[in-house]
Amino acid sequence: MTSLDQRDEIKNRIREAADIVQVIGECVELKKAGTRFSGLCPFHAEKTPSFSVNPQGQFFHCFGCGESGDVFSFMMKYHHLTFPDALKDLARRYNVDLPERKMSDADRARMQKREQLYLVNQSASEIFQKYLLTADDARGARKYLAKRGVPDELVTRYQLGYTPGPEIGGWKFITSRLQAKKISTIAIEQAGLAVKKESGGYYDRFRDRVLFPIFDMSGRAVAFGGRIMGEGKPKYMNSPESMIFDKSRLLFGLYQHRDAIRKSRRAIVVEGNFDLLLLAVHGINNVVAPLGTALTRSHIKSLRGYCDEVVLLFDGDSAGLKAARRSIPFFLAEQVEGKVALLPKGHDPDSLVREKGAAAILDLVERAKPLPEFVFAALVEEHGLTLSGKSQIIQELSVLVQEASDPAQKDLMVAHFSEKLGISPARFVTGGERSFSPESRVEQVTERSFQQLPRKQRQVVDFLILYPEFLQELQDGGLGDVVTEPVVQELIDSLEKLRASGSFLPEQLLSQLSGGSERQYVADLLMRGSVGEDDEETRGRELCDELLSWLKSALGQRNGANLQKRILEAQQAGDSQRVGRLLQEKMKVIRKNRGV
Ligand code: CTP
Ligand code: MN
Repeated sequence: MTSLDQRDEIKNRIREAADIVQVIGECVELKKAGTRFSGLCPFHAEKTPSFSVNPQGQFFHCFGCGESGDVFSFMMKYHHLTFPDALKDLARRYNVDLPERKMSDADRARMQKREQLYLVNQSASEIFQKYLLTADDARGARKYLAKRGVPDELVTRYQLGYTPGPEIGGWKFITSRLQAKKISTIAIEQAGLAVKKESGGYYDRFRDRVLFPIFDMSGRAVAFGGRIMGEGKPKYMNSPESMIFDKSRLLFGLYQHRDAIRKSRRAIVVEGNFDLLLLAVHGINNVVAPLGTALTRSHIKSLRGYCDEVVLLFDGDSAGLKAARRSIPFFLAEQVEGKVALLPKGHDPDSLVREKGAAAILDLVERAKPLPEFVFAALVEEHGLTLSGKSQIIQELSVLVQEASDPAQKDLMVAHFSEKLGISPARFVTGGERSFSPESRVEQVTERSFQQLPRKQRQVVDFLILYPEFLQELQDGGLGDVVTEPVVQELIDSLEKLRASGSFLPEQLLSQLSGGSERQYVADLLMRGSVGEDDEETRGRELCDELLSWLKSALGQRNGANLQKRILEAQQAGDSQRVGRLLQEKMKVIRKNRGV
């Protein structure tokens, strides 16, 4: 029996053993209604029950927010578990034996590496914190925090730390202490705490900085942000990304604040670490801060499990606010309401709460405007509602609409904005997926270079450049349907040409690509990418599998959104038979997607 069959079999055994009504009934008050059970949906705020559990089909569905799934997805969503953890949890409760999972050598090596990186960060965090709280040489840092209004109790709660400057051993402060704990220097370097010198040897990345550990959702420190005290550049320094640290997914404070966010069903996003700390000092705990980056779809996805609403608390000229426009499609796609609260001129949350107290912040947050409306109002203010103003607005909104990742989302945005403008939806250039034409002005504005692609698509590009032999496999996996950026199409065309000519040397790509910045990108990547991977072939295989499963879930999501639209339509038409049929279909899609 292959391991996939085995996994399916275990899933089925658990699904049969677990009683979905009982599992959900422990978290949601359910009432019997005919052959089903119904209650208030735990995934969105509602006053009348539209959440229904179907014991025959062993699935749940909410007619209000569209959330549905089986007993595994309920456990994952409600308790924030990964699929394997949900599986384990249910297996334990319902006495289903799980076979020991067989790991390949590569899997085991990767797992050990990750464990090592966790250990480095966790040990470092303890050392930094103890130093901040007790060392004589950390007196200045303690004073700095006190001056900024951060009490000791917060130092413990957020495990803040300090690392001394060069004059007191700061070139080797953490590296030598970790080495003394028998942690390998390579692991310290890979975690980003030590930097290798050209001349050999290592030095500490962070020196004379107050440190903010970043935790993942299991509460493990995975990285640090370090602020210099007083003036100096750079103001913040962060750990580089690693196997365990993905900046675009993690948010500072989410681990500590998850319960407060869950309780209020709302997350407030601020820009700075100190903004978050000072709000916490004043009792506002449902706050997170991205790590100096714009809000990504993954950020919103991580928040989604805890709240229905995300309020961006920004000042009017902030870079974050400008970037927030681009996040509209992410909010729509994740079905989270995005709102904007503007700070008074010259204030950040830190200064406002210190000057005017928590009430001033809460008041702003209460009056926050929905993000699309906010953007719309800003555009109206900028261009006016004259004929030419309107067409300017349409053009800018078209750019946003085009960035929506999924056709259903595009339709939603077009419907929303055209109603607001009192125009026909047809006036939006929604950009046929493949009908890219160089003459179209709007499309030229949004055409991206490799560098500007969303993270996952860039990963595809990097992969294809380094491992072109996997092109066909990705194409068979739906690459062309998922990734439609012209710049990626061009890359694929070039690779196909090379393949047809019987040669597959990545270097030859350079002569094929038309854009200068694309050629530079490929050149850089080839220089970096081709050194030192010990097992190129396995690595290629692994990456390819990873991308294939991403493609599969992207396709699945697209189908899911489509189905969701059809379910709504059937509901509106009052065709309950069709609703039932479509729900069954949706369940199948969900199960299939998870079978990856
Ligand atoms: N940031 C960063 N790298 C920089 C500048 C900022 O990673 N060079 C991130 C930090 O996470 C910082 C956030 O962006 O917290 C917002 O920047 P800023 O408003 O400058 O930081 P504050 O934390 O508010 O710092 P302070 O109040 O001490 O000036
Ligand atoms: Mn600040």
